[in-house]
Amino acid sequence: MRVTIRDIQKLKDRGERIPMITAYDYTSAQLADRAGVPLILVGDSLGMVVLGHTSTVPVTLDEMLHHIKAVVRGSQQALVVGDLPFLTYTSAEHAIVSAGRVMQEAGAQAVKLEGGTTVAPTVARLVALGVPVMGHIGYTPQSEHQIGRRIQGRQAAEASRLIEDALALEAAGAFAIVLELVPAPLAQAITSRLHIPTIGIGAGVACDGQVQVWHDLLGLYSDFTPRHTRRYANLAETINAAIIEYSADVRAGTFPAAEHSATMDEATLQAALVQLAPKPHD
Ligand code: KIV
Repeated sequence: MRVTIRDIQKLKDRGERIPMITAYDYTSAQLADRAGVPLILVGDSLGMVVLGHTSTVPVTLDEMLHHIKAVVRGSQQALVVGDLPFLTYTSAEHAIVSAGRVMQEAGAQAVKLEGGTTVAPTVARLVALGVPVMGHIGYTPQSEHQIGRRIQGRQAAEASRLIEDALALEAAGAFAIVLELVPAPLAQAITSRLHIPTIGIGAGVACDGQVQVWHDLLGLYSDFTPRHTRRYANLAETINAAIIEYSADVRAGTFPAAEHSATMDEATLQAALVQLAPKPHD
């Protein structure tokens, strides 16, 4: 049985913190799921860490669906949240079509979209139709070209706008809200005003949960390391060393060894070679 949004709410109500991690394929979803993470996000950070773009803006809905399907196949327990990418929720009707594809075609159990008061009516429509929605405010990467990658809510006016955004999303029926790059005291103020859980990324420890990008957490992505990440492994180094060793073994002829190959008895091989021999001319 998969985790539901009601289970996520119960975690907040019991004061239990909520870990969330991104995944983009079958194998990473399996690993996250087996580790017991209740929430997996197929984020449009896919654009950077998997597809090699410099932002989330170029990511298409079809690309998201492709990866969400794999994550759904790889997980059994976690609630899978699929990001709605840039310009796929420009109106409530548009969002319904996009969210429908994420849930019906790809099999996610919820969607995430960026924005506060401006998208709240869209969130309300989706929720009324049975779509669980996770909000995302603070630094919203799809607006990177407007707002720049920086901490949001440092000024009083911006901070109160973020509180209003969070309250509007909760009133619209969002089941949780990601707070990205928000000063920790502001994230705490938002969290204490909401009944639904906040999931922080670069927003301090007072959030109800935390989300991190798979590649950042595991040391797989070297283009950029966000300040808010703690590396729990350095898989890039481990993988690099393994590939160097493999290449050296191939060059030296020590891989594959006998145990990596099937054998065949000599007589059978000779019989095959005889059959290949050119027939003598008459
Ligand atoms: O796309 C993503 O991975 C995200 C997280 C950083 C919250 O939106």
